[in-house]
Amino acid sequence: MTTAVIPAPDSGTGGLSVWPASTARLAHGGLAVGGVDLAEAAERFGTPVYVLDEGEVRKRCRAYREAFPEGDVLYAAKAFLSRAMVRWVREEGLGLDVCSAGELELAVTAGFPPDRIVLHGNAKSPRDLGSALRLGVGRIVIDSPSEIARIAAAVGPEGRQKVLVRVVPGISAGGHSKIRTGTDGQQFGLSLADGSALHAVARVLAQPRLELTGLHCHIGSQIAEVKPYLTALRRMVGLMARIRDAHGRVLPELDLGGGHGVAYRPGEPALDVATLARRLRSTLTESCAAARMPLPRLAVEPGRAVVGPAGVAVYRVLSVKHTGDTVFVAVDGGMGDNPRPALYGARYAPRLIGRAPAAGPRAATVVGRHCEAGDVLAAGVDLPGDVRPGDLIALPVAGAYQLSMASGYNMVGRPPVVAVHEGVARLLVRRETPEDLRRRDIGA
Ligand code: LLP
Repeated sequence: MTTAVIPAPDSGTGGLSVWPASTARLAHGGLAVGGVDLAEAAERFGTPVYVLDEGEVRKRCRAYREAFPEGDVLYAAKAFLSRAMVRWVREEGLGLDVCSAGELELAVTAGFPPDRIVLHGNAKSPRDLGSALRLGVGRIVIDSPSEIARIAAAVGPEGRQKVLVRVVPGISAGGHSKIRTGTDGQQFGLSLADGSALHAVARVLAQPRLELTGLHCHIGSQIAEVKPYLTALRRMVGLMARIRDAHGRVLPELDLGGGHGVAYRPGEPALDVATLARRLRSTLTESCAAARMPLPRLAVEPGRAVVGPAGVAVYRVLSVKHTGDTVFVAVDGGMGDNPRPALYGARYAPRLIGRAPAAGPRAATVVGRHCEAGDVLAAGVDLPGDVRPGDLIALPVAGAYQLSMASGYNMVGRPPVVAVHEGVARLLVRRETPEDLRRRDIGA
């Protein structure tokens, strides 16, 4: 599936700035990603289809490795995980952050070294912990006091498990209230302000089967500014100094979580990884010098910023309806494969692909095929006035938290994932079929 790529006169602008860097315009209104014509991919794999640009994922992993050469970069698997993703992340030298036995077992069976995996979760099930200990994960992040004795008991008399304590540093940041986790009053972590974090640390240090290697915090998601991270860093170093003073223990690791924001629409801000790394390093050096502490090893856990901008969702238009002042363009996917607009009010910039428009732009609302009025993928976006059934609509920045949060609503079945790279398209995850759905239903 190699296509002659005509360099776009305005690539990087003209609405393509949030698309993968490999995106190129083709003749007659086509678009190629990773050297693959998206319209051809839609034809070959059917729609909806999620296209993932392997080169873009790898490039983003490398940017993180270069920005944090002496730290750890753990890809947050919850954004999107598949066996190929596991391989790319491993080959690019990242570690992995998982939050379930499912993610963990997929990663390990796909060849990811367990000692480079960190297990998270505010409610780890016996199966999550059992898998983690059996497979030998590198770190378990303690999220509540009750986990301390539970993990210690599960480790057994011979073992010793490295753990971090998740701290709530009291910082409000993030793109939506549902993804802000840095303040008290939400279910993750142990409060710095009320002393629960310090108390938990004391209890962990008293457990011979647990080795406390450091502290963790994750202040939220889709954060476009560096400042909240610097504030979090200073507070975490402050807590590390108090731990040293109270217990004589200098913790060697500090994991600042993920949350790095990306632009979903042209002109939106994104967090610059190199700037983040540079400012974290200088703030860390200053705060540690002030506290007379050696520098801990930093870790970050980006999910969205690694995979989000590498994905494009391609839908087929099924109907176009003019209702009052609104033009509804209905596509063959929707909240079943992308619940983000309904959950967080997420905004996207979809565009017509596969043919040259014969009319100027007109405001339209792209809706899905699911049976609710809330199934709106993008309201009030410009699409060509002649958009019609059979057209293809592509939604960029579709790589993170869409398929990983996809549901079985209306028994539509989840779309396939296709990797594109250097002109070749290959199926990574096949489409979920009605047969798949029926097979789980074993009652009479
Ligand atoms: N580390 C921890 C402990 C996390 O809980 C998360 C995300 C990450 C790292 C990665 O965050 P990222 O770099 O991807 O922002 N479904 C929402 C996002 C939920 C994020 C949950 N935790 C969305 O679609 O916007």
